[in-house]
Amino acid sequence: MQKTARSTLAAAGTLAIVLGGFVITPNIVSAAEASAVEEGKRIAFHRAKGNCLSCHKIAGGSQPGNIGPALVNMKARFADKAKLRAQIYDATASNPNTIMPPFGKHKILSKSELDKVVEFIYTL
Ligand code: HEC
Repeated sequence: MQKTARSTLAAAGTLAIVLGGFVITPNIVSAAEASAVEEGKRIAFHRAKGNCLSCHKIAGGSQPGNIGPALVNMKARFADKAKLRAQIYDATASNPNTIMPPFGKHKILSKSELDKVVEFIYTL
């Protein structure tokens, strides 16, 4: 019993280290944070959810469109996650003529989905 618990813990630790590679931060990344990044990636890439790849080139995604800019250097573009979240929540707030859909305002993504997408995009 104890042995199983220990090996499960070890496996979780390994997983956190592997997933931690996505997060460029000197802080230790918790397993919860790492899984939010992974889920955010899945939601961002999903054709029926974020579908961000239809317009943006994103590392790890295939067949991207080029209607929007490639999503790179996000920490240099956005001072904090709140500013990035605002862009994804309602891109029309900063540019009324943008064709990027207002994912939060129009409830294309739920609040929790949006938060996870932000976690993922901020690692780019
Ligand atoms: C229909 C096309 C389209 C889709 C889908 C789309 N975007 Fe955009 N996005 C744009 C365009 C165009 C811009 C350029 C800024 C503008 O129009 O104001 C942009 C800008 C951005 C920016 C700012 C980039 C920078 O460097 O300033 C971010 C971040 C972003 N999009 C994230 C996302 C995410 C995350 C998704 C998916 C949840 C997404 N976009 C889906 C078209 C799109």
